[in-house]
Amino acid sequence: MSTHLTPLQAIDVVKHFRQGNTSVAALRGIQLTISAGEFVAIMGASGSGKSTLLHALAGLTDIDSGQVLVDGQDLAKLSDTRLTHFRGRRIGLVFQAFNLIPSLSAEDNVRLPATQTADLDQRVDQLLERLGMNSRRSHKPGALSGGEQQRIAIARSLICEPAIVLADEPTGSLDSVTGQQICELLHELSSRDGRTIAMVTHEPHVAMWADRVVVLKDGRVIGEFRPSGRHDAQEVAAGYQATVRSAREPVAC
Ligand SMILES: Nc1ncnc2c1ncn2[C@@H]1O[C@H](COP(=O)(O)OP(=O)(O)OP(=O)(O)O)[C@@H](O)[C@H]1O
Ligand SMILES: [Mg+2]
Repeated sequence: MSTHLTPLQAIDVVKHFRQGNTSVAALRGIQLTISAGEFVAIMGASGSGKSTLLHALAGLTDIDSGQVLVDGQDLAKLSDTRLTHFRGRRIGLVFQAFNLIPSLSAEDNVRLPATQTADLDQRVDQLLERLGMNSRRSHKPGALSGGEQQRIAIARSLICEPAIVLADEPTGSLDSVTGQQICELLHELSSRDGRTIAMVTHEPHVAMWADRVVVLKDGRVIGEFRPSGRHDAQEVAAGYQATVRSAREPVAC
């Protein structure tokens, strides 16, 4: 893992979605730097630009202006093929809808993004063991619970040993107990493995696992705070509300 470079940096990132004559400003000049090994939660109301930002950080969406740097590499400077290769090696992606292939076993879903190497079987075994999914490895996704499917999706995101994990509402379709297990796992991936994690959520009891909470509103970062580390959802809810309240409306000019 490269720890000497800043893993994730958004510099003045602007993104509009155009449909016919209308244009929606999803990101209006995002500045965000995430350090190596940091676990950052991105919070904000629905439509504030959280998913668009995560997609921009992954190079899954083109931006209009600004820069996204991953390990110092400007994603816009890579051809599509090189970007896909770069993303595959550096970034693990986890989504709310687990996006598993229904016809493949849990184990084969984990294996899917990896190229066949001598140590692949061992890595699959280790991940399934670590995520408590060894006994379910031959099941297809339809025979797994939501939490189990998300653990398989996380194992799949880690199979290429990315230094960075980007997760969009990873607990969004899970009950609170299962969601908490996924949060503990993500927390461990940063605190124990030193991976850099950016996780989108609108739930304080999910964001409380992060080292830092960044708050978006209308496509802008309006503030941030650090939870105390006691994993206290009420404290995070209060921090979020205080950040939203203290944000000044931009002066029209
Ligand atoms: N593919 C798209 N085409 C047109 N507009 C889009 C598209 N994707 C997002 N938008 C718009 O961009 C803005 C930001 O959307 P985004 O999905 O990033 O919000 P979000 O914070 O992730 O919301 P949620 O919490 O509901 O997931 C919204 O106004 C949304 O309608
Ligand atoms: Mg979203």
